[in-house]
Amino acid sequence: MILTEIDHVAIAVNDLEAAIAYYEQAFGATVTHREVVESDGVEEALLAVAESYVQLLTPTRPDSPVAKAIEKRGEGLHHIGYRVDDCAAALESMVAAGARAIDAAPRPGSRGTTVAFIHPKGSFGTLIELVQE
Ligand code: CO
Repeated sequence: MILTEIDHVAIAVNDLEAAIAYYEQAFGATVTHREVVESDGVEEALLAVAESYVQLLTPTRPDSPVAKAIEKRGEGLHHIGYRVDDCAAALESMVAAGARAIDAAPRPGSRGTTVAFIHPKGSFGTLIELVQE
């Protein structure tokens, strides 16, 4: 098994502050990390749940992939981040199993992680992110 943990569940929202306030009030959650990832056109807030995170994600510009996802499907579940020990090896293994890579090679993610995305087509409809800490 190459997955070691669910790293995060990413939820696309229009209003990051409103979503954070909702999670704080509804669950008593606290934000453990915030970051703007300009290359992806997103701002994220991470709320820790045990060893994993809920990642609230909002677009920073209209041409960001997350903006397009919200336009197409509305707010909601955007992708699942699976933690792996070796992102390159996990990506290779998934492609060998028939997955369609979005990233041909691992690249920098937020929090200093190394990540690679797998297309929902070929993965039963779920956008998958491999996350190496
Ligand atoms: Co993610």
